[in-house]
Amino acid sequence: MKTKTIIEKLLANKPVEKNELIALLNISNKAEIQELYKAAYQVKIETVGPVAYFRGIVEMSNQCIKDCYYCGIRRSNAEVERYLISEDEVVQTAMWAHAQRYGSMVLQTGERQDNQFTAMIERILLRIRDESNGELGVTLSLGEQSEDVYNTWFNAGAHRYLLRIETTNNKLYSQLHPPDHSFKERVNCLKKLRKLGYQVGTGVMQGLPGQTTADLVDDIMFFKEMDIDMIGMGPFIVHEQTPLANEAENYNAERQFELGLKMIAVCRLFLRDVNIAATTALQALNPTGRELGLQAGANIIMPNITDTKYRKAYQLYDGKPCLEDSSGMCKGCLSKRIDSIGETIGLGKWGDSPHFKKRTDK
Ligand code: 5AD
Ligand code: FES
Repeated sequence: MKTKTIIEKLLANKPVEKNELIALLNISNKAEIQELYKAAYQVKIETVGPVAYFRGIVEMSNQCIKDCYYCGIRRSNAEVERYLISEDEVVQTAMWAHAQRYGSMVLQTGERQDNQFTAMIERILLRIRDESNGELGVTLSLGEQSEDVYNTWFNAGAHRYLLRIETTNNKLYSQLHPPDHSFKERVNCLKKLRKLGYQVGTGVMQGLPGQTTADLVDDIMFFKEMDIDMIGMGPFIVHEQTPLANEAENYNAERQFELGLKMIAVCRLFLRDVNIAATTALQALNPTGRELGLQAGANIIMPNITDTKYRKAYQLYDGKPCLEDSSGMCKGCLSKRIDSIGETIGLGKWGDSPHFKKRTDK
């Protein structure tokens, strides 16, 4: 079937086959790729509008008990200088974001599951809720935890959680992680989060060694089946100090970037009303990557609000942008970028996905 016909079906919100989505991800003709982005943008305007919501992200710590083969801050990387930002500093940063009218923030760390850590996060959440009068939305991105811990954090004011599934191909998952990392437990965590009332975000990497476009379509089907509210995903980027660097012989930055954009576009066309982030990984591969992400259907931007002095130690992949910049610089820069494509920033709003609203209004 012609790609144009598939795109038309999606624009009319008609059912499509898996093979048709695979065909869209496989498009190589430049004009057809542009048609794909244009259609996704149209659906974005119809469902979430030309508004980019800011989620200021604090990379609070790079301490990590996990050892994923692709990630620059994996516990076996002895070259990384480990840091933990103090509670006071995190709360101050949150209040800075609130004062800038960022409706919402993300607290991200490497994974830790000890009681000291979970109690510290709870205290931070309570302080942010208190000091912002419950106005600043808080999303957590703190990895796999017990249901009890997720519940404690929810009660302390977190209302969204991001936990990427990385890939839904179980076999590939086990090739990318050490044996004690469990795909099943990752899925289980997403279920716990949903049950507790969080808005749930997940995502995958694109262009992983050994990954096919059929795998990516399975990922999209997984997002649909799990009734996911938000998607944060991006192309896999080699980090030289990781085991996966040796397996990425055919790595081509331009192709990775294009696959990243196509995945955003197909997710927008197929899932329609979810929030989709234009992630920093896109900008690592292309100077205007995040704007292009918005133009391919994304509607969320995550300005880095981590103090500049920590940024170099939080490199999950090589070539991460904004390492020398301050939070104020990232704000100005991203505002200009959004302006340049004729969109507005959703200031002072949580910016929940219409998908979440529909699900909870039922
Ligand atoms: N390239 C791209 N994304 C990566 N992540 C970790 N390492 C890399 C890499 N080398 C992503 C993972 C993780 C998120 C925090 O960062 O998807 O869930
Ligand atoms: Fe950080 Fe542009 S987003 S300087």
